[in-house]
Amino acid sequence: MAKALLLENIHPVAVENLERAGFEVELRTSSLSEDELVDVLPGVTLLGIRSNTHITPRVLDAAPDLTAIGCFCIGTNQVDLVAAAQRGVVVFNAPYSNTRSVVELVIAEIISLARRLPEKTQKMHEGIWDKSAKGSHEVRGRTLGIVGYGNIGTQLSNLAEAMGMYVIFYDIADRLAHGNARRMPTLDALLAEADVVSLHVDGRPGNAGIFGDAQFRAMKPRSLFINAARGMVVDTDALREHILSGHIAGAALDVFPIEPKAQGDPFESPLRGLDNVILTPHVGGSTQEAQEEIGYFVSGKLRDFELGGSTALSVNLPAVQPPALTSGGRLGFLHVNVPGVLAEVNNILATEGANVTGQYLATRGEQGYVVTDIAGDISEAALAKLESSPHTQWLRRWAV
Ligand SMILES: NC(=O)c1ccc[n+]([C@@H]2O[C@H](COP(=O)([O-])OP(=O)(O)OC[C@H]3O[C@@H](n4cnc5c(N)ncnc54)[C@H](O)[C@@H]3O)[C@@H](O)[C@H]2O)c1
Repeated sequence: MAKALLLENIHPVAVENLERAGFEVELRTSSLSEDELVDVLPGVTLLGIRSNTHITPRVLDAAPDLTAIGCFCIGTNQVDLVAAAQRGVVVFNAPYSNTRSVVELVIAEIISLARRLPEKTQKMHEGIWDKSAKGSHEVRGRTLGIVGYGNIGTQLSNLAEAMGMYVIFYDIADRLAHGNARRMPTLDALLAEADVVSLHVDGRPGNAGIFGDAQFRAMKPRSLFINAARGMVVDTDALREHILSGHIAGAALDVFPIEPKAQGDPFESPLRGLDNVILTPHVGGSTQEAQEEIGYFVSGKLRDFELGGSTALSVNLPAVQPPALTSGGRLGFLHVNVPGVLAEVNNILATEGANVTGQYLATRGEQGYVVTDIAGDISEAALAKLESSPHTQWLRRWAV
C-alpha cells in the first residue's frame, strides 16, 4: 500500500479520498522543516502540503519514493518546481477551488459600498447614531463592469445579474458572455458605463500597474471600485487621490502591491483610514468551503496520477489526461523532449508485439510524457528496452 503524508492540517476530505483509493494516509497538523522532511520522506509516495512547507532540492533528493506533491492551496512558490520536474516528481495545486468564495466576497462588497456600510458601522462603534439615506443606493439596476472574465469574473457575472444588476465585461481573450452580460470592445468603454468596476484579471507580468490615474479618471463620477485579483495591478496612490476628491465613492481591496509576510505583521497602505473603503487581508478565497474543495480537488489529482498516470493540470510536468483504464495495460513514460523519442517508443512496442489501443502525449519545455494503453499486458522485454533508453526519466506501468 503506497503511503501518503499530508502536512499542515489539510482538510479531512483529502484523507477520506486517498484512503478510499487504497492509500495509507498519515495526517499531521503542522509543517515540517527541511531536516524533518529529509528524515520522514523515505517511504512516502505522495506528499500533501500547504504554503508553509518548503520543498527544496535537498528534500527531493532525500525522497526516493516520492512521485507526486499536492499543494493544497493556490500558490506553488514553496516548491522548487524545476528541481521537482528534473527528478520526475509531479506537482499539483488547486487554482480554481476558491472561485465561489471570492465571488461571494465581491458581492458582499458591492452592496456594502453602495450602502456605505463601512462608514455607518464605524460611526455606530464610535457611539454616533447617523440615520440617513444620503449616498446609499440599491444595486438593482446598476451596471457592474467586470475586467477579466475568467473563472471568477463569469461567476460574479451570474450572481450580479441575479441581484438585478446589468453586467458588462472586458477581457483581452474571447470569452462567451453569460446571461445578459455585454462584452465591451475596450477597457475605456467599460469604464465609461460601469457604476461598479471589479477587477478579476490574472497575474501575468503585463498586468502590473494597468489600473492607475488615467483609468480612475475614466470611471464615472461617484462610481465604486473593487480589486480582489492582484495587488500589483492597481496604483493605490492614484486610487487614494480619487477617493479623497470624491470622484470614486468607495472601494474594496483584498490584495495589495506589498502584503505583510506573516500573521500579525503591520499593514501599510495609502488607503488606510479613508471613508467608505473596505480593506481585507487577502481573504477572498479563504473559507472553510474552499478548504474542503481544495482538499477534494488536490487529493483527486494525486490519486489519478498514482493510479492511472494522469498529470492533468500539473504545474511542472507535461499535462496528459488519459481516460480511465478499464482493461489491458498502461505505460507512462516521462522522457527527455528530443526528436524521435515517440518513434523509438513505438518501435520498441511494435517489435515486442504490443497492440497499442490508445496513446496520449504532451511536452513541456525539456520534458515529454507519453501514456500508452495496450491490449493485454506489456512484456518484460519491452519494458527493459524502454528502461534502457538514454531518454528515459521514468517508466511506470499500470494494469487492470
Ligand atoms: N483575493 C483572493 O483571495 C483570490 C483568490 C483566488 C483568485 N484570485 C485572483 O483573481 C484573479 C482572477 O482569477 P480567475 O481564477 O478568474 O483567473 P482566470 O485565469 O480564470 O481569469 C482571468 C481572466 O483575465 C483576463 N485578463 C488577463 N489580463 C487581462 C487584462 N489586462 N484585461 C482584461 N482581461 C484580462 C484573462 O484573459 C482571463 O479571462 C487572479 O488574479 C487570481 O490570482 C484572488
